[in-house]
Amino acid sequence: MSDSDKVFAGSIPEIYDTYLVPLIFENFASDLACKVAADNPKSVLETAAGSGVVTRALAPKLGADCSYVVTDLNQPMLDRAASRQGDDGRIAWQQADALDLPFDDQTFDVVCCQFGVMFFPDRIKGYREARRVLRPGGQFVFNVWDHIEENEFANLVTRAAGQIFPEDPPLFLARTPHGYHDIDLIHDELRQAGFETVEIGTITDSSWAPTARHPAIAYCQGTPLRNELEARDAAKLAAVTDRSEELIVSRFGPGPVSGKIQGHVIVART
Ligand SMILES: C[S@@+](CC[C@H](N)C(=O)[O-])C[C@H]1O[C@@H](n2cnc3c(N)ncnc32)[C@H](O)[C@@H]1O
Repeated sequence: MSDSDKVFAGSIPEIYDTYLVPLIFENFASDLACKVAADNPKSVLETAAGSGVVTRALAPKLGADCSYVVTDLNQPMLDRAASRQGDDGRIAWQQADALDLPFDDQTFDVVCCQFGVMFFPDRIKGYREARRVLRPGGQFVFNVWDHIEENEFANLVTRAAGQIFPEDPPLFLARTPHGYHDIDLIHDELRQAGFETVEIGTITDSSWAPTARHPAIAYCQGTPLRNELEARDAAKLAAVTDRSEELIVSRFGPGPVSGKIQGHVIVART
């Protein structure tokens, strides 16, 4: 993973939240929120919360006496999340690295993390941290994207970026968000971190947008792919966005567009 893969800052948080969240994250957030709320937890930690799509889905499902700590590595993402959430005395916002959590052992009933573990430079360390802060019998609930070929817009955008930079294709999407989908590996890493039971399911869904330009902007300008493109040649960010739109139009038409997305959902117990 490149250092810039985990940087969600500058104009990324707003574009991420405006374009990418409705495109691919909302349905998975509803699913995760249902799983987290199912046992009526009294204390929940969310890591890598980003712009708060899970927080918005989960808070209404939690009891009045539940404490909910919402964290992310990048303060600008957390600022965006907090700005979209109404006043809620149960929620505490805190910048935190999921690999080095500033919480005591056995503090939470559930730790949840939507599409964040792929960004951890040492996943087993991140899993050990989740386990450390869970109470005995607690659950770690998270999801990861499947292979990029199962996620059509991301795949087309990666192809477009490779056409603009043929000598050195920008592979952020394949490498990081879509780079951790091997179910046996996920099982194995969770067991190494001390989780005793692990259940993994796969969800196939479609991502919808009103125009082909929406997913092009979402992936090229609202994710750390933007960091990778700008590091190569900032002037070509627009060209990659335009080429992505062209490839999406050629496959799906100008819009509305609907592409396949697929991810794995994991429930690990201590
Ligand atoms: C794809 S976003 C997912 C955000 C959110 N969960 C969602 O569903 O929209 C990945 C998030 O992981 C965060 N992140 C990256 N590395 C992290 C780390 N070591 N600890 C905590 N958060 C991290 C990023 O800041 C970013 O908000």
